[in-house]
Amino acid sequence: MGLFVSIEGIEGSGKSTLRSKLAEIAPRDELEIVVTREPGATQLGRSIRTLLLDPENLDITPLTEVLLFNADRAQHLQEVVRPALERDALVICDRYVHSTLAYQGYGRGLPMDQLKTLSDFATGGLLPDLVLLLDLDPKEGLARAMQRKVRSSGVYSLAAQQNDLNSDQAWSKFEEQELDFHTRVRDGFLELASADPDRFVILPAQDDAETLAKKATDAVRRLLNS
Ligand code: TYD
Repeated sequence: MGLFVSIEGIEGSGKSTLRSKLAEIAPRDELEIVVTREPGATQLGRSIRTLLLDPENLDITPLTEVLLFNADRAQHLQEVVRPALERDALVICDRYVHSTLAYQGYGRGLPMDQLKTLSDFATGGLLPDLVLLLDLDPKEGLARAMQRKVRSSGVYSLAAQQNDLNSDQAWSKFEEQELDFHTRVRDGFLELASADPDRFVILPAQDDAETLAKKATDAVRRLLNS
């Protein structure tokens, strides 16, 4: 059985940069490394991701949203993650079940026990051996994400539905709501980490990319050698 590492954190925390750096951790002929992500790593998953990201679907309910994330996950596990683990690969996954607990649980307020039951059902209880949590002040994260995507995670945000984003006042209300949401998500991630300290390594995302990559690589090497 291989090893399973997930990367978690709010938007703008640098997960994709870290993901690429970790892919270089070992020569591929010594260790197969499978780098993957949720949502959208399979063909069906890409259709689910399109549904989730489509601004036409802003009226999606939190329950529908969480069912779609878990549908993507079930397919992803079956097609990509489990086969790779069975080949003894190191699987590095950008977002996994802790994103659901943080975003849909702490962020959207869905009941945590039911989310855990749903995650267990979708994954057969498969948890990562290691979770690398990129921790960042949500203000900083949102500034970075907004630069990148203009509307940040607004596509997932109930806040976006309630605002006409064309006026300055509406935009700052939207930003405030986004910030509240991401603060809950960030605090949620930290709570999940402190409840499960053996699985989580918290990385300060304001570190430069090289330092972060070194800390993450060390954590993965410790896991590989354990
Ligand atoms: P994506 O464009 O992949 O953003 P990022 O680069 O930040 O991962 O979009 C993923 C979005 O989906 C992100 O806003 C987090 C959200 N998400 C959930 O709300 N729940 C989940 O279970 C997962 C996997 C993602």
